[in-house]
Amino acid sequence: MLSSSIYNKRRQDLIKHMGKGVAILKGAPEQIRTHDTEYPYRQDSDFYYLTGYTEPGAACIIDPNNKDNPFSLFVLPQDPKKEVWTGWRLSFADTVVKFGADQALDISEFEANALAAMKTSSKVYTNLNHDKTHQYKMIDHVGQVRKDVQRTGGGPEGLESIGAITHGMRLIKDDHEVELMQKAADISADAHSRAMQACKPGMYEYQLQAVLESHFVHEGGSGPAYTSIVGAGDNATVLHYIKNRDQIVDGDMILIDAAAEYDMYAADITRSFPANGKFSEAQKAIYEVVLKAQKSVIEAAKPGVAYQDLHDLDLRLLVEGMIEIGLLDGTADEVIESASYQEYFMHKTGHWLGLDVHDMGNYMAEGESITLKPGMVFTVEPGIYVNSKSKAPAKFLGIGIRIEDDILITESGNKNLTAAVPKEISEIEALMTSE
Ligand code: GLY
Ligand code: MN
Ligand code: MN
Repeated sequence: MLSSSIYNKRRQDLIKHMGKGVAILKGAPEQIRTHDTEYPYRQDSDFYYLTGYTEPGAACIIDPNNKDNPFSLFVLPQDPKKEVWTGWRLSFADTVVKFGADQALDISEFEANALAAMKTSSKVYTNLNHDKTHQYKMIDHVGQVRKDVQRTGGGPEGLESIGAITHGMRLIKDDHEVELMQKAADISADAHSRAMQACKPGMYEYQLQAVLESHFVHEGGSGPAYTSIVGAGDNATVLHYIKNRDQIVDGDMILIDAAAEYDMYAADITRSFPANGKFSEAQKAIYEVVLKAQKSVIEAAKPGVAYQDLHDLDLRLLVEGMIEIGLLDGTADEVIESASYQEYFMHKTGHWLGLDVHDMGNYMAEGESITLKPGMVFTVEPGIYVNSKSKAPAKFLGIGIRIEDDILITESGNKNLTAAVPKEISEIEALMTSE
């Protein structure tokens, strides 16, 4: 966890944007996995970004109109009988100190405090995410407050998403965030190299998954940042293949899209390599098209460039390459105009990366692409997927290739946070055949 002063600075920035508004946020609810056991708990990213609080059962109110207690944290109270099962809870006094709150209260007091804070605020910001119960309650509260203040004036008109402010803030990573993201990237990069070295025909996809995920945890990550994709042969052409149950056959291309979460921050890496350590001519042909596009996009990524231009460059290079190797017919302009490339390349070139693997933040504003700025982090992940049912030449069937790195925009250009995993054909072959 970062020092509480960092979260305090974020709350001050939030307040500048909110004016006389109030932020009333709920932490993520716990999710049941089976009967009475839960999924591992993961805090809501906006809640964490503003509070640093990672335990379940919490809420907060950030209220610049409340001069005594502008930042209130609501947490589960100490309860020795429950703590025996789930771990010790901080006292309210210790919670105040650790999280830089003005007061810490029992979570049972949250709704009443939320109603009171709404009455003195012109706008209410809340987290509008998957916690529908919280959203409905907040809508009810606003309706209740509107009735109360109808004759006296003031009060909020409605609810706004906290993301309208935080998602713009989260787009630019501060130094501490970059440090954590580099750590997540390093662990993940190392895990990919280990998986390449471990791979042998006859293994099962889940055994490579185990190599990766055990390294994530061994190095202090909380686990995978998203469900690991380990697809061999035709499975590599399924974009979100997460079953990872099949046996790896000699001659398969393998696609691994997997990365660690470290101290709440995600990495996101994909590498593709031949199961037997040696690229066939057909695998090499597709791989070189994807690699050229990926490297060219990374080279073009610098401050001042429109984010959309990266996708356009990627698309053009992939299309030109696919025409050259005989996967597509026509000119590049015709293929792009008709979108016939979508048979083999059907996703965008990348996405923002941070607390969420598909991080928040707009790609367009007022009809224009966002321009890249220092501190932004995003993936560059072109791919070509020729599934066995497609009309491509036989030699290409069952080959899925994606190459994905995590790019930080810097003052002078960019830094590839995941450059440590080999991606040149010669490097991959050398690593896989070394003893
Ligand atoms: N791992 C998910 C993605 O690459 O977008
Ligand atoms: Mn990605
Ligand atoms: Mn990925």
